[in-house]
Amino acid sequence: MTVAPSVSAAPARTFPEDFFWGASSAAYQIEGATEADGRGPSVWDSFTARGRIKDGSSARVACDHYHRYPEDIALMKQAGFSAYRFSLAWPRIIPAGRGAVNPAGLDFYDRLVDAILAAGIRPMACLFHWDLPQPLEDAGGWRNRAIADAFAEYARVAVRRLGDRVGDWFTLNEPNVVAINGHGTDDHAPGLRLGEKGVLTVLHHQNLAQGDAFRAMRAERSGLRLGTVCNLQPARAESDRPDDQAAAIRWDAVWNRVPLDGVMRGAVPDVLAPWFEGIVQPGDLDRIRFPIDLLGINYYSRMTMKHEPGRLFDAGWGDAHCQRWTGMGWPVQPDGLYDLLLEFKQLYGNPAVFIAENGAAYDDVVTPDGKVHDAERVAFLRDHVAAVGRALAEGCNVKGYLVWSLLDNFEWAEGLSKRFGIVRVDYDTLQRIPKDSYHWFAETIRAGRVV
Ligand code: NOJ
Repeated sequence: MTVAPSVSAAPARTFPEDFFWGASSAAYQIEGATEADGRGPSVWDSFTARGRIKDGSSARVACDHYHRYPEDIALMKQAGFSAYRFSLAWPRIIPAGRGAVNPAGLDFYDRLVDAILAAGIRPMACLFHWDLPQPLEDAGGWRNRAIADAFAEYARVAVRRLGDRVGDWFTLNEPNVVAINGHGTDDHAPGLRLGEKGVLTVLHHQNLAQGDAFRAMRAERSGLRLGTVCNLQPARAESDRPDDQAAAIRWDAVWNRVPLDGVMRGAVPDVLAPWFEGIVQPGDLDRIRFPIDLLGINYYSRMTMKHEPGRLFDAGWGDAHCQRWTGMGWPVQPDGLYDLLLEFKQLYGNPAVFIAENGAAYDDVVTPDGKVHDAERVAFLRDHVAAVGRALAEGCNVKGYLVWSLLDNFEWAEGLSKRFGIVRVDYDTLQRIPKDSYHWFAETIRAGRVV
């Protein structure tokens, strides 16, 4: 007997009911209020004051999320978010980086977390999204091994206050960018050029601090889900030439493997051994390794590398031969996300992961109807969410997808000029305008499949 298909049946969901959806943000990029309630200065305030932001803007006000968070959480709720990853500003909580705790700083995150929970959204807190307290930088910052106990103490303070309501804790966000851009190519704070050894030192010390923080959080409170956030960008060589191939392998090791293999395997890549000489001390690798519960993966694009003497690790950016580019000049490569998730499953035994960031900046315009018809961003997000759906269908253990970002925000060295939000922020009036991509995302969440 054949059964006629029902015309009215809703299309099947691609994503399970318990798949979580939402957005990620970082304190420095959205909060503003950089001098409010006892917050101390961070390396990004100093970097900005040195005139290092391309459009001359600053994050003093940014999205004023510090005061407008109820409105922003209402936007998340309306879109049907089930999760929200945000970062805590270390300089708000411990203004000098170590020592005295600022109660008003913790009070802010207390209010924020309560509001997120009241909206029925799962709060996911990240401890370090780049705003290092300036006094710690003055004491050597991430170049100084002693930073590890300051970070562990900060983690303990944060969990003690918020761990009864926040179940998901992440230590670092993209430690490779802090090391490479902040200490290698100098386009991020603190703006140093330390060479290969300096970059690896900073990466290694972040790994150490992270390991100590995991143990401090475990000791402080049981039952938390602990994890970290890495931006995994598959590295390909521009050509078959052996020197280009070798450059891609070295760059993959620095960019992807040091952060990932550190925590997952307690290992440093062999190919970097000459530069690691003298950095790793006995016992370090055991300190670095930790059985995390959840890994956040940020994905924007692949990396195409070529041999280029004079660049860090003699690796330069090659031609990606791509047809589509974002407003950051990054190639649009959704297949890279699918490949990465499958490769990760195979290499690391399929532990639980989620997409902690994915999104794109474009030159949005507000049309006379007062709206933002950001068709390119909708296409970008659609293609990437679809790639995650394909990886899920192949058995990848992906638990959720968070877009970068809810709001347009302070895009580090690019300032306010690069807009990643699915909600536009008018920086004169601070008005929020949901873009077409916001409505598309809400509809996709509701349907549980790409619409
Ligand atoms: C990753 C970083 O975590 C985030 O802070 C940044 O804004 C986005 N990439 C876009 O560049």
